[in-house]
Amino acid sequence: MKNRSLVSITDYSRDEILKILSLAAEFESKPSQNLLSGKVVATLFFEPSTRTRLSFESAVNRLGGSVIGFTDSSSSSVSKGESLKDTIKTVSNYSDLIVMRHPLEGSAKYASEVASVPVVNAGDGANQHPTQTLLDLYSIQKTQKNIEKLNICLVGDLKYGRTVHSLLMALSYFKPVFYFVSHSSLQIPNEYKIFLREHSIEFYESAELREFLSVADIAYITRVQRERFSEPMEYEKTKNACILRGEMLENTKSNLKILHPLPRVNEITTDVDNSEKAYYFTQALNGVFVRQAIITSILGLV
Ligand code: CP
Repeated sequence: MKNRSLVSITDYSRDEILKILSLAAEFESKPSQNLLSGKVVATLFFEPSTRTRLSFESAVNRLGGSVIGFTDSSSSSVSKGESLKDTIKTVSNYSDLIVMRHPLEGSAKYASEVASVPVVNAGDGANQHPTQTLLDLYSIQKTQKNIEKLNICLVGDLKYGRTVHSLLMALSYFKPVFYFVSHSSLQIPNEYKIFLREHSIEFYESAELREFLSVADIAYITRVQRERFSEPMEYEKTKNACILRGEMLENTKSNLKILHPLPRVNEITTDVDNSEKAYYFTQALNGVFVRQAIITSILGLV
């Protein structure tokens, strides 16, 4: 992992993923240390974010490092027409590691090719969100005491949801059974079904959440990604298709945990928040420890 960019979750082997999860547990027991003293991490967010940016920044601050960057590219020289390449080459001179979110699929890979420091993909369009996946895996392992052979129900926008795409690929190292629930126009793309068949991973599809909820160990709910739709009416047609309500948790497994990468819009009703099966806010907290593990591994400090 040392000095390597993290662009796609497939950049990490099964053993490397397990190493990050183990390190994250160590950071959870001791989140404030001085490991990043003298190090500068740049956070370049060309798209909005609450959790990813702030948990990265919290992770760095708690380890004694410094953060530079922007939260809105209109406040950078990109607004004057500067290219992504020139921006990344410049920021490489000011930092030891770049964390970047960008609306274009493939932008993180491109940035990693032109940067002189490692680049961490904080989400590139509908493609990948590998650090979210690592915190999702950490949350799964922590709540289930195990990560192998689980029944994983992926719900919502399976077409545009980058967290779903990264998570599916990473979990495939651990022999899950997948249950996909979505509106017919937001089904998991074919390329991922081909990937699952090639890896002999069982999967089932439905438009009805109740059909699979009773067998799930993990229900991973996602919002419909309004910003990815070119046609607003298409969003309107799909936005209420899969909603988890409190009463639907009756007759579910005792170990079921509800995960969501957040932000939530309407796809989990707020009465679910009171259930001991709701885990999404703790999941967001886990992002700090997992990102501490990622940064210190890449910088070769652990
Ligand atoms: N989960 C996630 O990526 O959240 P933000 O968009 O708030 O960073």
